[in-house]
Amino acid sequence: MVEVDRERSAGRIAREIETLSGPDFTTTSEAIRRYAYTPEYRRTLDHFTAALQETGFTVTEDPVGTLVARNRPLGEPTFGIGSHCDSNRNGGRYDGTLGVVTALEVCRLNEELGVGLPLQLVSFLEEEGSGFGQMLLGSRIMLRRVSEDDLRERFRSLDDGRSFWEHAEAAGYEPARWKESIHVLDGLTGWIEMHIEQARVLQDTGKRIGVVNAIAGYVHADVVVTGRGDHAGATPMGLRLDPTTVLAETVLELERLATEAGGGTVGTVGEIDVDPGLINAVGAQARFSLDVRGPEDERFQRVAAKAAGFALDAAQRRGMSASYEERQTLPATALDGRIVGALEAAAAETGESWTTMHSGAAHDTMCVAERVPSAMVFVPCKDGISHHPAEEADPADAALAAEVILNAIAALA
Ligand code: HGY
Ligand code: MN
Ligand code: MN
Repeated sequence: MVEVDRERSAGRIAREIETLSGPDFTTTSEAIRRYAYTPEYRRTLDHFTAALQETGFTVTEDPVGTLVARNRPLGEPTFGIGSHCDSNRNGGRYDGTLGVVTALEVCRLNEELGVGLPLQLVSFLEEEGSGFGQMLLGSRIMLRRVSEDDLRERFRSLDDGRSFWEHAEAAGYEPARWKESIHVLDGLTGWIEMHIEQARVLQDTGKRIGVVNAIAGYVHADVVVTGRGDHAGATPMGLRLDPTTVLAETVLELERLATEAGGGTVGTVGEIDVDPGLINAVGAQARFSLDVRGPEDERFQRVAAKAAGFALDAAQRRGMSASYEERQTLPATALDGRIVGALEAAAAETGESWTTMHSGAAHDTMCVAERVPSAMVFVPCKDGISHHPAEEADPADAALAAEVILNAIAALA
């Protein structure tokens, strides 16, 4: 077992997080907000590039901006580690970024301690979907789980409505070569992503490490209800076609459906837009998002379909029209038993508290796992808070995760 000076690693990890939480790396001071093709995201990639080059890695980016760093020439087998360093629009310091910083620490330890593992670090573009409303975009592009039309036309910037393609080209990338991205996975003998748990299981059960053996699947979709914009004061209740009534009924029906489905199924309406969205106007149109997830495809897919059907029926019943459009869906993903086993053995070796669990949150590992034996390592985050600036995690847990990952890869080599 490779002995790691965890205190030293925890200090280095803490300093990286502190740096990447500074004003140069976020578009707002209210949260950590950085996403594809913003100067703040570019500076984040540049920061990791410099640190990895100092550690003897060759750093490149795929045709749309996923960062790839190797300590072996192309063509030689390597073991993959990494995560994402973009953030949710209301992001914290640790979601994604702690995974890339911990992967960087594994690279540093591997070189300093002369462990000599062949490694490839990957930091995926747009995991959060903060730029174009498309979660896991970089890894879905890599696995060709999108179409060229999505990239050229359908996926549009939340800031200015221009296409992903235009933004990628303006940032100096070559989206026309997007299908080459999959070769980043060539020769990968395995993949481990470290991430904060984003819930409270580890904290509430007093565990420092979670070995993740499965990731919940999800449906992302939008419902648009079209009613009739009216004066809020002059229009009698019986003469209204108010789309927010359908929105309200559907939110409660989704809650009922997901609860009734059980088995870890969850449903959320996170985005709500009412047009014109004025206090004294009955809305003409209401758009809302559906995020439905669970560890069993059949269960969460059925809840999503029932919620969609309910919304369309409710609109019709009230004399309005509604549309449902799926944004994307990924299946629940079982992870690799051999990699999970190596992580469990390495965690047990440390003598620290650990457990095996599934992930309710989505991760790029869901895409990588299609082609590369994969698993994940979780560390606790305070009270499970995430996708919020109050997000907190302990660099000492990340240092422990670095040791577990290093030893698991060494055992798998
Ligand atoms: O929402 C998710 O599951 C991920 O944190 N983007
Ligand atoms: Mn994340
Ligand atoms: Mn996230």
